[in-house]
Amino acid sequence: MTPTDLASLEAIIQRHGPQATELLQILRQIQARFRCISRDAMRVVADALAVPLTQVQSVTEFYTFLTTEPAGQFDIRLSDSITDHMLGSRELAGYFCQRLAVRPGQTRADGAVSFSFTSCTGMCDQGPAALVNGLALTRLDRGRIDQIATLIDAGTPLERWPVDLFQVDDNIHRSSLLLDGHIKPGSAIQRVFQQGREALFDAIDQSGLRGRGGAGFKTAAKWRYCYEGQEGAIPGDPAVKRFVVCNADEGEPGTFKDRVLLHRQANEVFEGMTVCAALVGAQQGFLYLRGEYLHLHEPLQRVLEERRQRGLLGRNILGHQGFDFDIRIHLGAGAYICGEESALIESLEGKRGNPRNRPPYPVTHGYLGQPTVVNNVETFAAAARIALHGGAWFAAEGTGKSTGTKILSLSGDCARPGIYEYPFGTAITRILEDCGAKDVFGVQIGGPSGTFISTNEFDRKLAFEDLATGGSFIVFNHTRDVLEIARNFTHFFAHESCGFCTPCRVGTALLRNMLDKICQGHGTPHDLVELTHMARLVKTTSHCGLGQTAANPILGTLERYPDLYQERLKAISFEPGFDLDGALEISRRLTGRDDAHAHLEQAG
Ligand SMILES: Cc1cc2nc3c(=O)[nH]c(=O)nc-3n(C[C@H](O)[C@H](O)[C@H](O)COP(=O)(O)O)c2cc1C
Ligand code: SF4
Repeated sequence: MTPTDLASLEAIIQRHGPQATELLQILRQIQARFRCISRDAMRVVADALAVPLTQVQSVTEFYTFLTTEPAGQFDIRLSDSITDHMLGSRELAGYFCQRLAVRPGQTRADGAVSFSFTSCTGMCDQGPAALVNGLALTRLDRGRIDQIATLIDAGTPLERWPVDLFQVDDNIHRSSLLLDGHIKPGSAIQRVFQQGREALFDAIDQSGLRGRGGAGFKTAAKWRYCYEGQEGAIPGDPAVKRFVVCNADEGEPGTFKDRVLLHRQANEVFEGMTVCAALVGAQQGFLYLRGEYLHLHEPLQRVLEERRQRGLLGRNILGHQGFDFDIRIHLGAGAYICGEESALIESLEGKRGNPRNRPPYPVTHGYLGQPTVVNNVETFAAAARIALHGGAWFAAEGTGKSTGTKILSLSGDCARPGIYEYPFGTAITRILEDCGAKDVFGVQIGGPSGTFISTNEFDRKLAFEDLATGGSFIVFNHTRDVLEIARNFTHFFAHESCGFCTPCRVGTALLRNMLDKICQGHGTPHDLVELTHMARLVKTTSHCGLGQTAANPILGTLERYPDLYQERLKAISFEPGFDLDGALEISRRLTGRDDAHAHLEQAG
């Protein structure tokens, strides 16, 4: 390492502060500056942060945006989401590689460019999408790829690329309680002081607000538990440090509504976090922003700074002595599992995003072992409006068990993909009409981990008691192949498994291989039995929500479309997953034999 590189590395460490919790943020910066994390850099970081070298190494290996081999000066990652496939990304990938003279997964010999695939980038309403050095490129087509290739070949720095390439639109088609207008910054926080803590807790309770990240836990109960602590604790004990975390990891394929909320209504999200901090007695907040939303990082920093200037963050907020609260943004680095709240907390602490054992839950043992509220972006945005307008205002919309509205990210086969806000209880048919979906075959609700519904289920309702969703709503028409959809989702889970527990680490890989075999026309009835058995095993024995839902695409489609699976099967009862005859090809060539006796034949 040259003295200049060392100085630059040390400057990065100093800028963040040499604490172990900053490890991931420091590694992100090193990757951006040096295009990889070298062994020397790992040693310097380990020494400065006083953490074992093995920890630095294992964190580096965990996050897909960190590499130990140099990425290209322009590092292109094409989104591999099903919605991008539907928009033609597979064909474009070939063209991209041809134009850039690079192979997938490799860096070009001159170091100028590297090309690879990445999981859903949250741009499903404006794909095909990719990332270049972490920044989103949208609406890719051959023309844009030509333009990008020319810019790369000329070595044009990203700051000088046409802004149009990076344009990300909100695409809001239907707004209601949360997306209509804006609230005045500080107005919701003011309510806490005007009405008092108990009245505000009651308002959140009365609103019936349930978490918008998917699981639907009651927000009032979570916040109250964080404030009151476990049995025997002093409610709001000032000696206890508490934290408020906004989960903006939004990695579920097909979900992009948090992206829009953070772009359009960041003030309200931060306002909701501050209301929460005032109620639970927290002094520090974090926004965990997925790495794919790097383009939002600076604008969000600016919103935070403006709020500090206006006395809405920092010390003695709005002049209230002793109410100190601030928010920091922590960037993820390409790991879907970090959306799971305990994995997210591990990541915030600078570690690998491995889900913790639960209980204890984050609300009592969260960030640094302290009581921590983790909520979705939309939950905080809703809480700010509830603080301002009251619980009854919110509860007047929706159903008894699912009050208020839900923001959907709608994509796939429809004329108007984008953002739609509906009262809970809205029927799927209504949503399909609004977005201009025709000839619909099925809808994936809640992303790969959710539910695939077929035509005879379209009168079902958007609600926790019927079809729950974190926001993903992908429409498929009759030209789509159900098995290919299930296959894409299964590949996603196998790729995103954190590897911590065996049923998920091994099981998702086996499911992927079995489904590949069936889709490629080599499946037999025996494989189908094995597939079903393995899917149930992964679902029932995995450690966290990722593994417990990873088999949903297979089980859901098997249940609804058994005939489509049967049609793909071979007549023979068994075909080995491993092609022994093919594997012996090299030795046949070396020995110059290709006669019938040199081949192994499949019995049956
Ligand atoms: C694999 C996995 C990924 C998740 N990803 C997210 C996510 O991106 N955003 C989110 O808000 N919740 C996500 N969750 C749910 C969180 O664990 C947690 O329940 C949620 O952040 C709580 O906030 P809420 O009560 O406001 O919904 C995920 C859960 C699992 C199991
Ligand atoms: S279920 Fe999968 S993602 Fe969850 S802990 Fe196990 S290996 Fe990790």
